[in-house]
Amino acid sequence: MTNNYEIRRAIVDDVDSIYNLTNSMAAQGLMLTRSKYKIVTSLSSFFVVIDSESGKVIATGSLATLWTDLCEVCALAVHPVWQGKGVGRALVEQLIEEARRLRMPQVITLTYQVEFFKKLGFEVRDKNEFPRKLWRECLECPKLENCDETAMVISI
Ligand SMILES: CC(C)(COP(=O)(O)OP(=O)(O)OC[C@H]1O[C@@H](n2cnc3c(N)ncnc32)[C@H](O)[C@@H]1OP(=O)(O)O)[C@@H](O)C(=O)NCCC(=O)NCCS
Repeated sequence: MTNNYEIRRAIVDDVDSIYNLTNSMAAQGLMLTRSKYKIVTSLSSFFVVIDSESGKVIATGSLATLWTDLCEVCALAVHPVWQGKGVGRALVEQLIEEARRLRMPQVITLTYQVEFFKKLGFEVRDKNEFPRKLWRECLECPKLENCDETAMVISI
């Protein structure tokens, strides 16, 4: 296996791969489950990482626009075989680049992966600083009032 990969915007052919990758992580409690409906209806916000050798999707992530001054990195998942090889970093950097293109001043994430996001320049922030109305995904989460994820923000 080589470590060559490319990052590109998701297309409709990627939906099953995004669904399988994110939901396999969700089954381990690492992230929220996602329906195919939800993936399809937000497909334009998704990027995928493709293994150059096999052509398969090895990672996925999306950049949701929450408001005029805030984007959210979500649905971030790197296939276990590819973890620890810089793929997650490259993908988040691409999502930040996309936020820059949109002229968004800040990017937020709600995560269990605090050390990973610290390495990328995100800082821990109090969730209460961000109005509940911004958290679309929270309304679908069984933990709603008992969220144990950490809010982290990067100014760009
Ligand atoms: C978290 C995740 C996206 C990281 O992607 P990755 O490709 O494995 O990470 P990278 O190899 O790009 O790591 C970048 C840096 O973060 C560090 N890092 C990655 N995961 C880490 C962790 N769990 N704890 C501490 N540091 C971590 C790496 O050591 C690396 O540091 P370096 O630049 O000093 O060498 C990936 O492990 C994953 O998909 N996990 C399961 C799903 C998940 O938790 N998603 C996040 C939902 S918000």
